[in-house]
Amino acid sequence: MQFHVGVISGDGIGPEIVREAKKVLTSVGKKYGHTFEFEEILMGGVSIDVHGVPLTDEAIEAAKASDAILMGSIGGNTTTSPWYQLPSDLRPEAGLLKLRKALNLFANLRPAYLYKELRESCPLKDEIIGSGFDLAIMRELTGGLYFGERETKEVNGILQATDTLTYSEKEIKRIAVKAFEIALKRKKKVTSVDKANVLDSSRLWRGVVDEVAADYPDVSYEHMLVDNCAMQLVRDPGQFDVILTENMFGDILSDEASMITGSIGMLGSASMNDTKFGLYEPSGGSAPDIAGKNIANPIATILSAAMMLRFSFDLDKEAAAIEQAVEQVLKENYRTVDIMTNKEEEKPQFELVRTTQMGDLIAERV
Ligand code: IPM
Ligand code: MN
Repeated sequence: MQFHVGVISGDGIGPEIVREAKKVLTSVGKKYGHTFEFEEILMGGVSIDVHGVPLTDEAIEAAKASDAILMGSIGGNTTTSPWYQLPSDLRPEAGLLKLRKALNLFANLRPAYLYKELRESCPLKDEIIGSGFDLAIMRELTGGLYFGERETKEVNGILQATDTLTYSEKEIKRIAVKAFEIALKRKKKVTSVDKANVLDSSRLWRGVVDEVAADYPDVSYEHMLVDNCAMQLVRDPGQFDVILTENMFGDILSDEASMITGSIGMLGSASMNDTKFGLYEPSGGSAPDIAGKNIANPIATILSAAMMLRFSFDLDKEAAAIEQAVEQVLKENYRTVDIMTNKEEEKPQFELVRTTQMGDLIAERV
């Protein structure tokens, strides 16, 4: 089959890690008889440099016309990059938020899985890791604080800023349904995370999730407060299957979850709407400090490409081939710098590889 993939390489390490994911997709295509056509779409800082805005209408149209989008990362150093001298709606991140909204990508799935080969890179103690963990965060992506009304104004000579956190029943219901559906295909457990002891939006969240849960008698579910969840993730991550939560909580918890997998460079993500379309990107950022050095870990982007094959193109076997190839290179002791521990560095069987080598190794093994 033939697929038209919109590619947003973006800023920082984005172009380097996306290049490797394209390499792996091309290799999958050759092996399984598919053609992936890639169309570069500008977004973020690169778009600001060319067009003065982080996302043009033409870019949105090109994204909509694609079968799916593969993305790297956007943004730069927030203290030194000139992009951050611009008004907030013209900064790189505004492009991503606008695209999420324009494509209605309300469901952001971020799996966090500890490869047994990376146990040593996990900052948690051995007894906490236990038999490992395999969880997935279902983060609401087009509502809450990110998209509520905001304002900065002067009141009696003092600056005051406001952000609003709004959720409707409809928004909560559709993300809850996504979480329960994905739980059915996993370990059948949903932990809905909120701050219902303080926030009205969280109390509404709980009520709606209770209603949705009633339709999934085979899925066990619980509510958990977000502060407790942050603690539980480092106390006993093995207790989780699917974590369902709102936009801001999901942003924070997913970085925490990624860290306990050993490196943020290992985590893919899928942003989906109610169709087969999706945007696939690593959970990590643009890492401007290591950009252009060919040392970034491309695995998160490669695993995002695997999610694209599975969720948007129904190519399960091809997705599994990528995931197995990733596991294989880890088994063969190839490591990018972020997942090489001090102990491993001293052992001759471990090999430190650069971004392009890691991509080659995985592409060869699909
Ligand atoms: C993420 C990122 C984005 C977010 C930024 C770049 C706007 O941190 O995808 O987690 O906060 O959603
Ligand atoms: Mn984030």
